Amino acid sequence: MTEVIRVDPASPDPESIALAAACLRRGGLVAFPTETVYGLGVHALDRPAVLRLFAAKGRPANDPLIVHVASLVDVVPLVAALPPHAELMAERFWPGPLTLIMRRGSSVPSEVSAGLDTVAIRVPAHPVARALLRAAAIPVAAPSANLFSRPSPTRAEHVLEDLDGRIDMLIDGGTANLGLESTVLDLTVDPPCVLRAGAIGLETLRAVLPAATILAPRSSQDDSAPKISPGLLTKHYAPRAPLTIYRGETDRAREALRLAATAAIASGRRVGVLATREDAAALHSLPVVLGDLGREDSAETVASRLYSALRELDTARVDLVLARAIDQDEGLWRAIGDRLRRAAASVIDVP
Ligand code: TXA
Ligand code: MG
Repeated sequence: MTEVIRVDPASPDPESIALAAACLRRGGLVAFPTETVYGLGVHALDRPAVLRLFAAKGRPANDPLIVHVASLVDVVPLVAALPPHAELMAERFWPGPLTLIMRRGSSVPSEVSAGLDTVAIRVPAHPVARALLRAAAIPVAAPSANLFSRPSPTRAEHVLEDLDGRIDMLIDGGTANLGLESTVLDLTVDPPCVLRAGAIGLETLRAVLPAATILAPRSSQDDSAPKISPGLLTKHYAPRAPLTIYRGETDRAREALRLAATAAIASGRRVGVLATREDAAALHSLPVVLGDLGREDSAETVASRLYSALRELDTARVDLVLARAIDQDEGLWRAIGDRLRRAAASVIDVP
């Protein structure tokens, strides 16, 4: 039922893109690669189609979508007015992994924004996404192309795992290179505020917009905070087996994790460990299933592997997953730590 079209990620075949664009224009659901993760696209101004997208993902109606467009000029019809800094940020970061929150224009169905009077917009950089948006010539609302609460898809196979038969088309354009979602920056507040850490670090944003602030990190368990962006508070990105993260000084956290793994193995359970090469070495060849995050000195590598490693652990049918917390608050590490916390069922503080 889901038609899969394979394209060259660097220069997609125009005929394939035209097919997918036509499908979008008539209200179809089309998954496509972006430079962050795969998105599930739908005509953003077609209300019934937008409702079908929420249903296909099992996404709650209170989790707003990001609208993708080909360039800044396409933003104008979607917003009440361009907020201060919009042009500056667009000029500096678009096309790319930055989503800007602006006042929603009346053309955008309220369902797209989950009833908020704002709308999230980005211009993606991936050649396939760009070609698709140009060919479709419509604004395309696109959440990550996973079932609700599952890890975001970084490869076409991940999309099929979750959505085969539930969507009309999938453009297979290889691996989404960054592997972590866009940074979401709210331009409707003063000073502008990062609502979701992402592929562009706070430091990089501040080099252009020094006043930018960020919401304090929050765990999936804490629902007490104001619901500024509803979807941000629900549990996300989780593997099927419960994930426990160990927070504390590196060596002590590794030791606590190793002891927990040893005990779980002794009780006959199949243990998955999400680990950097360095974490893995500290396990001294315990018989666990490793979700390999690569070397800990490369945030780019860890970011690009995180979601696929979580999915590999699911495929290996582990009973539980253990990982060391990532508490660095610099650049991409902030976003990686944030996703890990949201994926976790529990956090253990190692004294
Ligand atoms: O990299 C990405 O952003 C990917 C690719 C496909 O572009 N998309 C993505 O979409 O991650 P999704 O739906 O998984 O996440 C959208 C995020 C949610 O956390 C949501 O709360 C926030 O954007 N968001 C959307 N509209 C918003 C709004 N009006 N106000 C505040 N937050 C909003
Ligand atoms: Mg998502």
